[in-house]
Amino acid sequence: MTNKPSSRAPYHTTPSLSSSALGAAVAVAQNMVHNAVKDKVIKQLPEPLQLVAKEMKFLTGNLRNLLGSGHPSLDRIAKYYTKSEGKHMRPLIVLLMSRATFACPKSSNSDNITTAAHGRDRGGMMAREREKELGVDQPMSMPSILNDVNPNLLNVGQSPTGSPLTSFAPFPGEGKEDREILPSQRRLAEITELIHTASLLHDDVIDHASARRGSPSANSEFGNKMAVLAGDFLLGRASVALARLRNAEVIELLATVIANLVEGEFMQLKNTAMGEENPGWNKEVLPYYLQKTYLKTASLISKSCRASALLGGADQGTVDAAYLYGKNLGLAFQLVDDMLDWTRSEKELGKPAGADLELGLATAPLLFAWESNSDLGTLVGRRFSEPGDISTAQTIVRQSDGIERTRQLAEDYANQAVMAISDFPDTEAKSALISMAEKTIKRKK
Ligand code: FPP
Ligand code: MG
Repeated sequence: MTNKPSSRAPYHTTPSLSSSALGAAVAVAQNMVHNAVKDKVIKQLPEPLQLVAKEMKFLTGNLRNLLGSGHPSLDRIAKYYTKSEGKHMRPLIVLLMSRATFACPKSSNSDNITTAAHGRDRGGMMAREREKELGVDQPMSMPSILNDVNPNLLNVGQSPTGSPLTSFAPFPGEGKEDREILPSQRRLAEITELIHTASLLHDDVIDHASARRGSPSANSEFGNKMAVLAGDFLLGRASVALARLRNAEVIELLATVIANLVEGEFMQLKNTAMGEENPGWNKEVLPYYLQKTYLKTASLISKSCRASALLGGADQGTVDAAYLYGKNLGLAFQLVDDMLDWTRSEKELGKPAGADLELGLATAPLLFAWESNSDLGTLVGRRFSEPGDISTAQTIVRQSDGIERTRQLAEDYANQAVMAISDFPDTEAKSALISMAEKTIKRKK
């Protein structure tokens, strides 16, 4: 990251983020980050994955347990995207946030602390003891209700599929990090991956994707109907796991994320900010794009960071800071994603490059280029559907500063993410979160 603030005012999704006071604060944060780089502090930042390596090692196995179904085809399709190693960025952030907020002040409001999934309350370890008692796998309804398929069947009370609805491999070890991350926070990390994977199953159908993570996409392997149903199944299992955290606020947050993902996808499909045949660039174009980006990508990261702090019993300031970190990091992440679609090859990405234009989507690099070249309006209006539209758009964007401005905006958001957690006590986990912001900007795929 650099200390040079973006020469243009950043585009923000909320009025509170666009004040000049914030602009000044961002400049201060950017300076802090720059100085850290200069002082080689950043070079010593821990590798984020190493700090939660044990949790991450069990992630895929636990996800597969949560997705078990006795219906062989469903079992196979639901677990399909857990086979290929994804980045697991969302669980990684939740786990790091859990560790980073362990060291933060705790809420004195015991209403915040719920039954099974609460964090460390005033009594500290009391919460952990209660969580141990109830556990994150404990159903609330009778097994005969949860597993019922047909009242006339004799084996009422057993899973119709012969496999438990959810089963969670016990977490071995009693290391320092185990004390810092609650079972409910580990489960939350898994839930974020389930929701994300569900959205990818649906997204690949909508985008007619042929590949994901270097392998055939689920829709191309099993067909659209199966892929959509598998995504729904993942959401169902995520909801069960979420309910068993027994924290209404956390359920509200993650359920809102699911709605937000759909809203974001709708905004992307509709593009009403530029819906006419030959739209002109207008000041609504970028805010619309950023709102879509928040809903589609940053909502899951921001609200799960918030949920992680809530589960840990953190005080209000910490909960808000965790949320802001996730929001800004999520926006930076998607901006970089949209930039890489322009700058990387299919081989480097593990999925087709230039896919956005092919899908008729105008993302940040093009929107910035359009601001200074009105010729793009016609192409945007017809979603690059005429022969030659895509190559014309590519030429105009590559000759513009659109890609650089996208990178710069992503960097602004990453800096704001770092600034959001500046009051957290200095721990390895906090440094790893800063490192995540750095890596988000530097990533190549
Ligand atoms: C990837 O976008 C897709 C998302 C981040 C969210 C998609 C959301 C939906 C399809 C709504 C349904 C949601 C649920 C929870 C079932 P991308 O196409 O830009 O990225 P890609 O290149 O990885 O495909
Ligand atoms: Mg897609």
